[in-house]
Amino acid sequence: PAKLRVSEAVSGADLGAKVKVQGWVRSVRAQKANLFLHVNDGSSLLSLQVVASSELNDPLLTFGSAVEVTGTLRKSPHQNQPVELEAQQIHVVGECNPVDFPFKIKERHGLEYIRQFPHLRCRTNAFSSLLRIRSEAATAVHSYFKENGFVQIHTPVITSNDCEGAGELFQVENEEEENFFSVPAFLTVSGQLHLEVMSGAFSRVYTFGPTFRAENSQSRRHLAEFYMVEAEVSFTQSLEDLTKVMEDMFRSATEHVLAHCAEDVDLFHKHVTPGHRVSPEGRLFNLAIDILNRSSEKFAFPTDWGCDLQTEHEKYLVKHCGNIPVFVTDYPYDLKPFYARDNQDHPEHTAAAVDLLVPGVGELCGGSLREERLDLLRARLEEAGLEDTYSWYLDLRRFGSVPHGGFGLGFERYLQCILGVDNIKDVIPFPRFSHSCLL
Ligand code: 4AD
Ligand code: MG
Repeated sequence: PAKLRVSEAVSGADLGAKVKVQGWVRSVRAQKANLFLHVNDGSSLLSLQVVASSELNDPLLTFGSAVEVTGTLRKSPHQNQPVELEAQQIHVVGECNPVDFPFKIKERHGLEYIRQFPHLRCRTNAFSSLLRIRSEAATAVHSYFKENGFVQIHTPVITSNDCEGAGELFQVENEEEENFFSVPAFLTVSGQLHLEVMSGAFSRVYTFGPTFRAENSQSRRHLAEFYMVEAEVSFTQSLEDLTKVMEDMFRSATEHVLAHCAEDVDLFHKHVTPGHRVSPEGRLFNLAIDILNRSSEKFAFPTDWGCDLQTEHEKYLVKHCGNIPVFVTDYPYDLKPFYARDNQDHPEHTAAAVDLLVPGVGELCGGSLREERLDLLRARLEEAGLEDTYSWYLDLRRFGSVPHGGFGLGFERYLQCILGVDNIKDVIPFPRFSHSCLL
């Protein structure tokens, strides 16, 4: 018999065929004459109903056990599942003691409970849906860039630079030697500078990989290891050129996910955080700090010009703008890293930087035009005592420099935003955060 994935078996395309299906038991129901199982193999949220004569019952057929079922696919008399598998043979591949197994049949375990079992939580519907959505969203991101003429660059995980200059670096060390074969090296906080190198040859580049921040935070939106989608575009004249790419990517990826994982997404919207569906219609705003100052809200952090936006401010701004994604542009110059472009024509000293703020999360993307003018960039690096460290970066402005810009999107925050998942630890297979590195 042909081996079928459950998603193929339930599609109805192979009615009448003798097939073999492998997976894990999601439910068992024994009646006098018949035995009913639901088998799931992770190919989709759907499980295949297996009907067998009770002679095939086995005490080892329990919730969570692994099985191989051979039988014939037929139309099901039940409306909610068009196809069932009439079993001729059921083989228990791996047993699962229901007393010890932390998940119980018929119980809906919350995300917080299942988080305690990082090695087992993918066996639950909620978390497996989440990881399928994550996988599809990653595909969506790659498709977007491919369709729009971007070249994918594998930027390094180990680097000597601190792109953001925020001192949130994890240092890399050999076991035997100091540092990285005795030279200083760190886990990357951003692939931006490497992308800037490549944008000087390929015009449009992107990277999508793990990034690391030694942020000692227990917040619901910070991880020590997270995935970032970063893009860099040459010949970018204005922030609008950049926000267009950000908005297009956000919308295109979200539409792709809604179209390709409808069942999984529905499960989330129904059971995890109801009613939090993001409109694929982004809207563009240019907000100033005085919206915060005019509000009657009491903020814990100051809202003066020159103070960075905190999560509470970001969330307020999103609400104020109709609870949909919103851009904030032109941050105070001194808040931004050395690479941000000086808006010299502004009355206040600002940088051509932009954040995309989204409901439930706050900051989803950070980006900027990059300072492409050699003299200005050199002056800023000299001021920071970094002109030697970044002599190679200055070279990029010496040899065929063009106006360019880019942004980074926190992939886990993106998933939180479109699914309404409260805690970032629930949208990554194996979360790493302060004081925690399980498995
Ligand atoms: O705003 P950030 O720090 O920007 C950069 O790193 C730029 N160099 C990106 C670029 O222009 N190429 O980080 C970008 C995004 C944030 O908006 C946020 O969504 C996410 O990365 N992020 C985190 N996500 C989870 N945990 C953390 N600790 C994060 N720090 C940043
Ligand atoms: Mg930022």
